[in-house]
Amino acid sequence: MITTSGLAVDGGAKAFAKMSGKAQPKVGVEEFLSIARRFGFSPEALQRLASAVSDGDLPERGPHLGRYWGSAKPSMGEQFEALAKDKFGVRHALAVSNGTGALHSTMLAIGAGPGREVICPGMGFMATSMAVALAGATPVFCDVDESLQIDPSKIEALITPRTIAVIPTHHWGVVCDMDPVMAVARKHGIKVIEDCAQSPGATYRGRFVGTIGDIGCFSISSYKIIGGGEGGMVITNDDRLFDRICQAAESGGLWRPSRCAPERYPGELFIGGNYRMSELESSINVIQLRKLAGVVDRNRAVWRRIKPQLGNYAEITWQKSNDPRGDIGYMMRYFPATDELGRKIAKALTAEGIDTSYRGAGAHPDFHVFRDMFPLFGKFADRCRAELCPVASDLYDRSLITGLDQWWSPADCDAVAAGINKVLSVYCTKIGEQA
Ligand SMILES: Cc1ncc(COP(=O)(O)O)c(C=O)c1O
Repeated sequence: MITTSGLAVDGGAKAFAKMSGKAQPKVGVEEFLSIARRFGFSPEALQRLASAVSDGDLPERGPHLGRYWGSAKPSMGEQFEALAKDKFGVRHALAVSNGTGALHSTMLAIGAGPGREVICPGMGFMATSMAVALAGATPVFCDVDESLQIDPSKIEALITPRTIAVIPTHHWGVVCDMDPVMAVARKHGIKVIEDCAQSPGATYRGRFVGTIGDIGCFSISSYKIIGGGEGGMVITNDDRLFDRICQAAESGGLWRPSRCAPERYPGELFIGGNYRMSELESSINVIQLRKLAGVVDRNRAVWRRIKPQLGNYAEITWQKSNDPRGDIGYMMRYFPATDELGRKIAKALTAEGIDTSYRGAGAHPDFHVFRDMFPLFGKFADRCRAELCPVASDLYDRSLITGLDQWWSPADCDAVAAGINKVLSVYCTKIGEQA
């Protein structure tokens, strides 16, 4: 064809044939690993990181490090999710950037918004109720019982026509009493969202927490029993809810078979955000998730060795367990009859070499108890009045806390149990052995 315009589109020479400048990788492998080494990752973790950053999906410009890049190999995020599905025995798992993102995406997915209420425990971490508020809904606090978990007998009275869900939060390594929680939720047709950030791998009557309600949310950060850095996860067996969680957590649509296609069914698409877990976090968290069972087993062994050795004392109430076989038990909490006794016991145990803390009345505020959740006050101060959840308010301050360690030997456990009995038998009245 004869071209008159000279345009490449008409067959003319191209204005720009090929870049002659040499592209440099955006993130060099060495550059990244020099940072990673400073965090003391294991050789296996470093090797996985090296493979994540040198995978070469953009050979000229360095690794892309994005989970949706579309390489033939599963991304690190997909590997993490496949492992999570296998470990927890669920149909769906989504890796997200943190536990707050897991909860917020879940709230958006279930339709939490203005005019809706979600029941949260009076004790746990503020991220749970903040996620509700962030979605525009109202957190309604429910008191706890002596397990320090949500008190199932107090949920029903809080349900209104606006209530759409309850969030039992399994915290400090123990589990909520899920059967009565599920019963009241099913009776009223509200969703059950389990916040498992502090008890991943714990079980209730043989089932993993996070698989009993409609959706399970996890934090996988350095502060939790597994996780290095920041991370989170959502699991569910519900296909439609899972689509909505994906949409809330990645509204750019990369999760969809055809990214920008119109809705495949009513309710598939709505306004969301972006909580993708990074490829680097995913590569670490694959290893972390593989370690979970070992972490749980070691913690349980310590707990089960110490607990039966402890006596019962008239002035001490031990934290109730909703499933002694399912708790992880990395922390022991118990309630002295008086503030003065609590302070004396904490001081004496610490002097024995057993680190124990006691908050006591008038202690500094703490975002783990509803009445101190100041960021919520601007909108929900009336929901945070101490008298609304008297048990949470009292027991949060009146708790002795002895941290346990998964690496203690049987001899360490015996020494700790003997030390606790030594102190309690001086300050309290022994009334028998633990069942
Ligand atoms: C019970 C609970 N839920 C949610 C979160 C939020 O997790 P993240 O810090 O990963 O956002 C935490 C974190 O401490 C938590 O303890």
